Amino acid sequence: MTELSPRPDLWSLDPTVLHLNHGSYGAVPRRTQELQALLRAETEANPMLWFRSVADRLAASRRELADYLHTDPSGFALIPNASAGVTVALATIQIPAGSRIVLTNHTYGAVRYAAERFARANQADVVVVDVPLEADDDTVVALIKAELDERTAALIVDQISSATAMVFPIRRLVEACDGIPVIVDGAHAPGLIDEPAADGADFWTGNFHKWPSSLRPTAGLVVADKWRSGTLPLIVSWSEYDERLPERFDMQGTYDYTPWMAAPESLKVLAELDWPVRRPQLSALIDEGARLLAKALGTELPDVAHPAATMRLVEVPFTGERSPDAGEAFKVRVSRELKAEITLTGFDERVFVRLSAHAYNSLRDYELLAERLPTVL
Ligand SMILES: Cc1ncc(COP(=O)(O)O)c(C=O)c1O
Repeated sequence: MTELSPRPDLWSLDPTVLHLNHGSYGAVPRRTQELQALLRAETEANPMLWFRSVADRLAASRRELADYLHTDPSGFALIPNASAGVTVALATIQIPAGSRIVLTNHTYGAVRYAAERFARANQADVVVVDVPLEADDDTVVALIKAELDERTAALIVDQISSATAMVFPIRRLVEACDGIPVIVDGAHAPGLIDEPAADGADFWTGNFHKWPSSLRPTAGLVVADKWRSGTLPLIVSWSEYDERLPERFDMQGTYDYTPWMAAPESLKVLAELDWPVRRPQLSALIDEGARLLAKALGTELPDVAHPAATMRLVEVPFTGERSPDAGEAFKVRVSRELKAEITLTGFDERVFVRLSAHAYNSLRDYELLAERLPTVL
């Protein structure tokens, strides 16, 4: 198989900086940025005319995004981000007093907060299942299943976790739930997992502004048939009584809809980048990059049974204070002094750099990080 070349030329990223954290906010190719600029110019040329055209344009974009996920367009709604998707799902399910919302110690912090808010409001509890970093699929399913019972209002589970970049066995967990509502946080899944919304969950949400490199904010919510009529957007708008789920979510008052309209352009860029061939090559690249960095830091690579295609954890021998503020200060220092954008994650008292690889990255990026990072530890 031919080795595809890195294509930083398609992005407008500052070439003097090492961009090694696509996973947090993504990065938008020039072409999509240009399309958005055209759409915004069109808006300002005649706002009245523009807003008359929004519904049709959104419908067209929505169909393309649903197609990309291989999901039924009538159960697919556009939303700003995965946080919104999880919140909508929690607002839709029944959470009786005394019930339990089950999640794991890998759950994204803001998603856990959402579960806590809904649990508080309904006199329910949040139950956190501890899943070790090294757990294989059988262990993950067994540990979570052991916490499911007649009191369980919902299971919230990551498809790819943020702090640990680990892939969870969604289909098997849906089976284990046997009718208990399953909310899948697929924030990182589009672009990294084929057909991410096809595992039979009650609600699935995922971001297009991460791996598919669409404009921020663009995300999707896939709702199983039985929930569609009762699933409402968080913002009450003129579409409140629209019986069709996707249309109900389309127009949320006056808003900048250009990211949603331009999102399919990034999918075209990915297709032209030969994404199905490129993604496994990026997996090999990130493996090599992680090995280089671990060697430079003198740490062992964690044994994650099922790592995400394009993200890896490298343990950092961090001797400083362990707090969110200290972590943030360290990232700012790396950004300023080393000209590198990285993210740190903490799990089980361990500190990791979570490295990303996208089409604009090359091995040289990781070599340079491996040279530079030890100098600030
Ligand atoms: C697993 C996971 N869930 C949810 C989110 C939240 O995504 P957003 O900020 O787009 O709502 C993230 C963001 O990184 C994430 O990694």
